[in-house]
Amino acid sequence: MAEPKKSKVLVVDDEEKSLRLLDSLLTAAGYETESATNGVKALSRAKDFKPDLILLDIMMPEMDGYKVCRRLKSDSNTKDIPVVMITALADRESKLEGLDAGASDFLTKPVDRVELSLRVKNLLKVKEYGDFLKDHNRILEEQVTERTIQLREAFKDLDNAHKKIKFGYIETIYRLTLAAEYKDEDTATHIKRISYYSRLLAEHLRLPDEVYETIFYASPMHDVGKIGIPDSILLKPGKLTPEEWDVMKTHTTMGGKILHGSESDFLKMAEVIALTHHERWDGTGYPKGLKGEDSPIVGRIVMLVDQYDSLRSNRPYKPAFDHEKTYRIITEGDDRTMPYHFDPRILQAFKDVHIEFEKIYERFRD
Ligand code: C2E
Ligand code: SIN
Ligand code: FE
Repeated sequence: MAEPKKSKVLVVDDEEKSLRLLDSLLTAAGYETESATNGVKALSRAKDFKPDLILLDIMMPEMDGYKVCRRLKSDSNTKDIPVVMITALADRESKLEGLDAGASDFLTKPVDRVELSLRVKNLLKVKEYGDFLKDHNRILEEQVTERTIQLREAFKDLDNAHKKIKFGYIETIYRLTLAAEYKDEDTATHIKRISYYSRLLAEHLRLPDEVYETIFYASPMHDVGKIGIPDSILLKPGKLTPEEWDVMKTHTTMGGKILHGSESDFLKMAEVIALTHHERWDGTGYPKGLKGEDSPIVGRIVMLVDQYDSLRSNRPYKPAFDHEKTYRIITEGDDRTMPYHFDPRILQAFKDVHIEFEKIYERFRD
């Protein structure tokens, strides 16, 4: 069995005789010792020798024990080494000053052998326990760091799983929207374009991040209510009669009903958009005739976006128009549409980024 490591004690005293006495007592008690005869040497020994305990004389020329002790306690290399002050002074003042300097204990000269041995033994135990705690804390910190890394990995996995579910869900929405609606329109690319135009305007209008992201997925559902419109109306090549038009307008409220009551932010916004994407800024829209900001911003955005894309597309009742003609109808009006139907801020945003609208149309054309 390996011999247990001897505890190391540094003895600091300017008197040779007293130094040798302490040294021999400690050596006899089984400690490894080093000595220093003044404060400067004591400080450098404390660093090299790394003692477990320091016995420190108070009354020394140049640098006294208090000062040495303060220095030891202010250096991170030595601050945890307990210091026992040895003093001829038994008065309260010097003890208080010693405590203030950071001393752990006191011995009075002449030093009693038994007392010395007990004090040293106790303080070494305290030091050992302190070292153990320090080590323990270090190990704990390492474990915490390790766990944090593991936790982060777990979050990443969760996030990936969540993304997969989200995309699966969005995919489902797209497919259902398609199934519901696209008997009257050419292809699925229309709903993609609606997503991109809507997000583009939301970004240009500096809407909050959640709106910017959610409108991307919610806007394509604006016309789901058309599932309830008979094909005879939806696919009619010509102009609608007033009765047919009344039925046609219900695609907004029907869409709202289909989407109503969900916990999902996407579907909640989709409901709002379905209900309000034919309202007009001047209050002449449907189903409610909401005026200005009474119609929510996402509805006002999709109202313009939907018109742009419908104008660009073939409909049973109209051919596709090019970007220039579409831009002109939206910004200058025609027999059906007027610029004052649009929220002026959104119309301005469209004017600012209309080139991007054309690019999105080209990117997702049939
Ligand atoms: P949609 O075809 O998806 O058109 C959406 C919106 O784009 C229209 O909403 C209208 O604001 C705009 N829009 C479409 N084509 C034109 C156009 O040639 N000129 C102008 N200025 N705007 C246009 P709106 O008017 O509320 O119509 C809603 C839906 O009603 C249309 O959706 C379409 O499904 C149907 N609809 C509208 N007018 C007719 C029509 O004359 N015949 C038939 N069969 N259906 C129509
Ligand atoms: C999205 O998930 O935001 C759509 C991806 C795209 O911007 O192309
Ligand atoms: Fe519509």
